[in-house]
Amino acid sequence: MPAWKELLALDRGRMLQALAEFPEQIERALGLACRIPNGLQGFKNAVVLGMGGSAIAGDILARFSTIPVVTVRDYEIPSWVNAETFLIAISYSGETEETLSAFREGIRRTRKAVALTTGGLLAALCEEEEIPWVPVPPGFQPRAAIAFLLFPLLKCFARFGYLRGNPDAVPDALRRLRDSCLPEKNENSAQTLAQTLFEKVPVVYGAGITSPVAYRWKTQINENAKQPAYWAELPELCHNEIVGYELAGKVFSQGMVVFLRTSFDHPRVQKRVEILKGVLSRRGLPFLEVFGEGDSPLEQALWLLYLGDWVSFYLALLNGVDPTPVQPIQELKRRLKEI
Ligand code: PA5
Repeated sequence: MPAWKELLALDRGRMLQALAEFPEQIERALGLACRIPNGLQGFKNAVVLGMGGSAIAGDILARFSTIPVVTVRDYEIPSWVNAETFLIAISYSGETEETLSAFREGIRRTRKAVALTTGGLLAALCEEEEIPWVPVPPGFQPRAAIAFLLFPLLKCFARFGYLRGNPDAVPDALRRLRDSCLPEKNENSAQTLAQTLFEKVPVVYGAGITSPVAYRWKTQINENAKQPAYWAELPELCHNEIVGYELAGKVFSQGMVVFLRTSFDHPRVQKRVEILKGVLSRRGLPFLEVFGEGDSPLEQALWLLYLGDWVSFYLALLNGVDPTPVQPIQELKRRLKEI
């Protein structure tokens, strides 16, 4: 049993605090939705511009929106963006060059636009162009500010009648999970999962609403635990990745598959998971399953997302690293600025 109390000394950037306050952050974030004016209604589709920890909000929104939502992680916007597109720029720092470039291009095509940011060049651009922006609280890592980057949008889409699910119900559902994941809790599923994944290369599988959640697990393990992790989605992975299991025993001995499951998974996806488990067992690739909890698809997806954040936090501690710093990202941004 790891000495979690001692390992917490590694958390110099106070990721634990940001994690533990997530349900309350969501409540604050729901209140920020009023910054998105009702006058923006009437769009036919939405494009979310962002990168990394900011962009994931777009992927989740897309899964619960009843109108088409596309996340663009690029310098340029799709050719079909027009006056009927709701353009949403998300950049925690407000300084991300890809997001700024795409937003500058986008606001020449549609005036239905909004930004979510702490400030920076993105907020300045909004002020200049008289575009509303949602002020996100400073002091977080972008990935730890997901409540503030996602929930104003979920709430706004719900208000406009474009959302499948009730974002107001999420904080209570997640408080139960938070209470069971705190470091002092015995029978702590996040700690157990982190121990199971320790010194493994996680390959996280989602399907439908859990696809972006699987991606979030991967990126949180990368950034918090500073280790490789991968993801894929069902049913697509049954058409390619499955063939790669053949030599997994030889070239991927550290691999471990994590299936993210909900009670709302498509019945054929459920069958596929059962078959895949048999294939994985025969190929000697270990796997585990994690089931979301909650009354709705939205609650279960966010339950799994939040659990993944906890797992990546404990994995960081087991790896002997501070979860917060992302030095390689900052170094790359610094070098690009010099060019
Ligand atoms: O997690 C991170 O720090 C990154 O993925 C950032 O979110 C990404 O580089 C984009 O920066 P920002 O969120 O400030 O736009």
